[in-house]
Order: sequence, then C-alpha cells, then structure tokens
Amino acid sequence: MFNLPSPIQQLSHSSFADAELDVFIKRDDLIHPIVSGNKWRKLKYFFNDADMPKHMVSFGGAYSNHIHALSYVANYYDIPLSLYIRGEASWLDKPQQLSPTLRDCMQNQAMLNFLDRKTYRLKDDAEFKQQILANYPNRTLWVAEGGCDQIALKGVAEILSEQTNDFDYIVCPVGSATTLAGLVAAAAPNQCVIGIAALKQADYLRERVHSLIGEQAKSKNWQLLTEFHCGGFGKLTESVLLQAQQFFTHHQITLDPVYTSKMSLAFHALVDKGYFPKGGKVLLLHTGGVQGWRGYLQQNKVTQAYLTEIGLPQVS
Ligand SMILES: Cc1ncc(COP(=O)(O)O)c(C=O)c1O
Repeated sequence: MFNLPSPIQQLSHSSFADAELDVFIKRDDLIHPIVSGNKWRKLKYFFNDADMPKHMVSFGGAYSNHIHALSYVANYYDIPLSLYIRGEASWLDKPQQLSPTLRDCMQNQAMLNFLDRKTYRLKDDAEFKQQILANYPNRTLWVAEGGCDQIALKGVAEILSEQTNDFDYIVCPVGSATTLAGLVAAAAPNQCVIGIAALKQADYLRERVHSLIGEQAKSKNWQLLTEFHCGGFGKLTESVLLQAQQFFTHHQITLDPVYTSKMSLAFHALVDKGYFPKGGKVLLLHTGGVQGWRGYLQQNKVTQAYLTEIGLPQVS
C-alpha cells in the first residue's frame, strides 16, 4: 500500500547556488495519498500484524493530520478507533460545518468524542488516561497526540538509510518533536539534525527529545530552532502563503500550510544569513500534511485559485 522508499529530489535555487549548498528534499509526502509524510513513519509499528489491538484511542484537533491518517489505517485494518477531539460536540449537529479532516475521520468509521480545551489539556495525565481506558476493551492501544511515543521512533528511523548517509544536515518541521527525536537517534555521527518548530514557545520540546531518546540526545548533533513559528501553530501569514507559492513555482512541489511551509521559510532565512558552511549537503524532509489546506479553504482563508497555484487544482 505504501510507495517506499520515497524519492530524494534535488532542489535548485539561486540562493542555494550562491551559498554553495547542495539541497535535496525527501519526498515522504509521496508515500501514500492519505497516510503521507511522517504519518506512516510514526504509525507503522503501532500496527503489528502478529498482535493487533482490539481498539485504539487517540487525540487531535479538528484539522490534525495525525487523526486523519490514523483513522484511515485503523479502518484499513478493521480496528475500532475512538478519537478525542479538541472541540465541541455541537459541531455534529451541522455536519457541513465539520472540518474536512473530521468528516474523513467519520467516513473512516472513527468514533468522535469532543473535549473542551481545559479537559483536552489532561490528555497526557495518567489518571485521565485510566478513566478513558476504563470505557474500552482490554487490548485498547493508546496513541498519544501526534503519535508521540517510543514506538514511533523505530518507524521514523527508517527515513534515514544508506542513501541519506552523505548529507551533512537533515532539516525537519517539528510539532510533538517525535520525528525530530527519531531522526536524531538514527542520524550518523557526521550529521546534524535541525528541527523547525511550528508552534510558539516550543523550547520545552528539547526536553521531550531528551525524554524520548535519552543519552543519544546528548551525544548527537542536533538543534531545535524556535523562532520560525510565524505567530503560532496553524497561523497562516502572508509570508507562509508566499513561501508555499514560491516553492511550487520553483520546484513543482506542494508544501503544507502548518509545517513544511514554515520549514522552507526558515531554511531560506538560514541560507541567506550564511548559517550553513559552503559545500554543505542538506536534506529537507517533506512530512506531508497537504490535506491541511482544506480547512483553510473551508474557513475562506485561502481561495481555490490560490490552491491551484500551489498545485492543488481540485480541493474538497
Ligand atoms: C505534516 C506534518 N509535518 C510535521 C509534523 C511534526 O511532526 P512531530 O509531531 O513528530 O514533531 C506533523 C505532526 O505530526 C505533521 O502533521
């Protein structure tokens, strides 16, 4: 079902040439039309053919790529999935107002439960977890928001291979920092992994990388850059829109609005300020998430004409 290994494609741009950098992108967005980008990487080992769960529980916002992909895979394997959504149950009264992501989750047979913001914040609390699990059969598998779990690291490590060994820098976007942690753990000693946080005040995620991969976080070469959030998680600024547009014009590759557009913006800013030594070889990771544009279209924050310009002619 998955197109693996994903291709690595060179990106040519005058500013990369001026900085004497060889820049490539790993097209994990092409792994699968729905379970694209880092989604399959993170979810793969939650689905173990020899010991499939009876039920799964997970969390996300109304536009989450994670719940979108998880609902597809759970449905594929015929595993009931209960999703806890940050939002309001009244959304169900007017299905046309539901986000396209949630509508897909319902079509994928996921059961939606809505939590207000305050309750949603308990999602990682042990007592809250016990209360939720008490509602479900014994072999219910808990998948934290964004798939943030040790189990995910093994799949993320598979992004790196012999083909990626001679890259000096690997650049990825960061939400829960699971992908960053997995890449850091799997990186070769000569490589530096750079994570670009998509959310505001993300410094706490350094600690998360340490807790996910322990000692390796100390011995490996990596950085989390937190100044490229463009106003906060999901904020769609003019510069993000322009970035996605320019990226498509130059490379015919569609970025997503929340993660990879900001990664690309950050990368260009770093190149322009001479962050990378001349002669460096850089690999950007396309982590997918293109479905996220639909929510912005529904909210009239982008037009179909704009989406056509960035390579998405028919969005629904
Ligand atoms: C498209 C996309 N890119 C990047 C990320 C960030 O990944 P992580 O949560 O592992 O940091 C996410 C969130 O999972 C995502 O949906």
